[in-house]
Amino acid sequence: MVGDAGAMNQIGPRIPGVPFNVDRIRQDFPILSQSVRGKKLVFLDSAASAQKPRAVIEAMSHAMETQYANVHRGLHWMSERTTDAYESVRDQVASLLNAPSRDEIVFTRNTTEAINLVAHSYGRGVLQPGQAVLISEMEHHSNIVPWQMLRDAHGIRLLVAPVTDAGELDMAAYESLLADGNVGLVAITHMSNVLGTYTPAARVAALAHRFGARILFDGSQAVVHRAADVQAIDADFYVFTGHKLYGPTGIGVLWARAELLDRMPPFLGGGDMISSVSFEKSTWARVPHKFEAGTPAILEAIGLGAAISYVNEIGYDAIAAHEQSLTDHALATLSTIDGLYIIGRAQDRGGVISFTMDGAHAHDIATLLDRNGIAVRAGHHCAEPLMQRLGLDSTARASFALYTTHAEIDALAENLERVRSFFQ
Ligand SMILES: Cc1ncc(COP(=O)(O)O)c(C=O)c1O
Repeated sequence: MVGDAGAMNQIGPRIPGVPFNVDRIRQDFPILSQSVRGKKLVFLDSAASAQKPRAVIEAMSHAMETQYANVHRGLHWMSERTTDAYESVRDQVASLLNAPSRDEIVFTRNTTEAINLVAHSYGRGVLQPGQAVLISEMEHHSNIVPWQMLRDAHGIRLLVAPVTDAGELDMAAYESLLADGNVGLVAITHMSNVLGTYTPAARVAALAHRFGARILFDGSQAVVHRAADVQAIDADFYVFTGHKLYGPTGIGVLWARAELLDRMPPFLGGGDMISSVSFEKSTWARVPHKFEAGTPAILEAIGLGAAISYVNEIGYDAIAAHEQSLTDHALATLSTIDGLYIIGRAQDRGGVISFTMDGAHAHDIATLLDRNGIAVRAGHHCAEPLMQRLGLDSTARASFALYTTHAEIDALAENLERVRSFFQ
């Protein structure tokens, strides 16, 4: 629930015709009313991890206070209730992604684990040595390193599609790599965590399929800002992480087509993922349980379910419109600051803005902003190869969420002017 019902009747964001009310939404996030270093907190680091609405915090503590037990195995009331709560989140995720079946939703710890699962299981079980995995220059380390490990262990080739100077996927180069490369799998971000670029997912998937490759989208950033529809984009795998979507840490999602999950060997072995075990042989549970070994992140899944309900209540259309307006405002405002360079100028982009400043290292920018309560990220953003492509060692990055305000962007711009004067 978004706040209490009484308040919602007055001014709630889901009332048709009532404009997106960011002040009202901020009341759902207890942490946002805090001061930091004696200053009002301006949290512009949501791309790293988003803050949590009260609905998520309460769903998790309510579950612990009233109905906590282990899932799947118990025949008692508590276990049945907890299993229902846990399994109902699978339905929610299936509907969030417009997946054809709830059985195609595998819970993981995070995006990183989901990609490792695919690399290990689909990579070793289905891809053949000599085939290639094609990634792009704008991948997060979690969509690079597992493929390097697969390359080294299994004889897979790793190809990298370049990005243009505007920070978009170079479609011509992408197509020619597909045409030449005996590519078995494309693994690509749906939205860059550095440049804010959206990948044209349906086009990218159609090309992959035309050349006989499967496609995995890293939706860690994209799913936070726009509705993701795995059928509309014709994905084969889609992964995301709960903590960026206003949910808790420790829970992530792998969606894959049922026929692929069926062909893939298990990733981790142990309890819950088996059908039978003897000392001679074990057989596997049906999907998705085949991929969920051990006690899962029960409370975290429940928290993710509450986060999805929260996002749905506000609605992706309203979220996307608000964030587009924030992004336009930020690009316009930051562009007026002398000596500040916005990195990435993609046509289709979201509210993740990286920048550099003449004479100031990104870490200095972040440290000075922090003195005034403004949280941004500085560094390579787990995308070192992209930094090398851009000829940079780091950037500062401001990233927006549904609770970000235009006034916070103004505060960022004002303080960046101060940083500029300081370093000049
Ligand atoms: C685009 C992208 N992919 C993957 C990840 C990894 O997410 P996690 O650390 O939750 O596995 C991130 C997190 O920053 C990201 O932004």
